[in-house]
Amino acid sequence: MSGEEMPDLVVHNIGQLATASPDGEWNLQLSKDGYVIIDGEMIVEVGEGEPPAARDALDAGGRAVVPAFSDPHTHAVFGAWRAQEFDLRLRGADYKNILAGGGGILETVAATRAKSADELASSLHEHLDVMLSCGVLTCEVKSGYGLDREHELKMLEVVSRVDSEHPVELIPTFMGAHAVPPEWGDDADGFIREMVLPLMDEVAGRGLVEYADVFCEPGVFTADQSRTVLRAAREAGLQGRIHADEMEPSGGTQLAADMNCASADHLLAAPEEELRGLRDAGVTAVLLPGTAFMLQKPYAQARWMIDAGLTVALGTDFNPGSCPIIDIKLIMALGATQMSMTPAETLVAVTRNAARSLGRTDRGVIAPGFRGDLLVLEAPDYLHLVYRPGAPLVRQVIQGGRPIYERGVDVTYAYRTTGEEGER
Ligand code: NIG
Ligand code: FE
Repeated sequence: MSGEEMPDLVVHNIGQLATASPDGEWNLQLSKDGYVIIDGEMIVEVGEGEPPAARDALDAGGRAVVPAFSDPHTHAVFGAWRAQEFDLRLRGADYKNILAGGGGILETVAATRAKSADELASSLHEHLDVMLSCGVLTCEVKSGYGLDREHELKMLEVVSRVDSEHPVELIPTFMGAHAVPPEWGDDADGFIREMVLPLMDEVAGRGLVEYADVFCEPGVFTADQSRTVLRAAREAGLQGRIHADEMEPSGGTQLAADMNCASADHLLAAPEEELRGLRDAGVTAVLLPGTAFMLQKPYAQARWMIDAGLTVALGTDFNPGSCPIIDIKLIMALGATQMSMTPAETLVAVTRNAARSLGRTDRGVIAPGFRGDLLVLEAPDYLHLVYRPGAPLVRQVIQGGRPIYERGVDVTYAYRTTGEEGER
């Protein structure tokens, strides 16, 4: 313990503490009248009853406390919204036809190329402020709206810079294979060979990314093309993630198993046989029910997957096209009401399972040895997270033992990096 014998922080008077267990169970551990002791950035003790003393105390006032959330799939850097496209889709236009006609993702590519790094950084800051207010402390972010060397690098440099400025920890993914940009016509193979693969080597070599992703979907990239991207990723030292069977099946789920990806995402149209392969390969299924909701498509088979023994995480897919939903709590509610997940399963899916799919095994659980990343809810029971969609239920966010956000209070948050201490 640092300093004297006393630990740094006690969070006490916790009406309900709800957390995934550190092991592989879906069951939630629930306790009453609890406390959590944090020293440095780590949890050192969790108990019930009279808490031991600490240098600082935070009274939860009988409210519920849960682990902070991780969002394992976002496209949070983009140049402009696409509300007009949403209106067209509500009147019957098809998402993939819009893309085939040069709109959709490609509209966002044009808008993102046109923005400066400063403009993209300031809009990313705004999005992260909202995510933080929804309880997210760890967030995956993909490139893929630049689609040439200059603008993919611009996006990734923005992610790296904002990561050092904002308390939400960003986990960058290279998604050069998001769509084929207009200057390549229909030469997807040439685009992969001459743009995606060399750039992937470069950004991996510079340490700008942790993962590589590809949109494996009929009309975008085939399973063979996706395999080429994921193989090269592995050679560059990056683990794969994949947009698999998002709208139509095309072998993406099988490919995720074959390539031992960190995650296979979407899976709305994934065949059961391939999902069993995913389970056997230990690949996390990252489900994004906000996308099914916004595109009015059938939801992924979450209940079947969990019963079959898959590891399931939930994410927003936050992006200006298929899913502009930024609130991971709303995604939990969709998981429960539309995919028959239990509320407990939705909490595990956005905490421990989401963090693990991002290689962050140090968080998402309230137990000794995990990071002190916690939320005090404006509710007596974690069930309110799915029971009251849309309500601003995050009262306080504690990151690595430091209270960094309080709803309605203009907190000057401290930077995550130790050493550069900000105001507390
Ligand atoms: O996950 N499918 C590809 N990418 C995103 C959508 C991006 C966009 O519509 O701009 C997705 O749905
Ligand atoms: Fe996506």
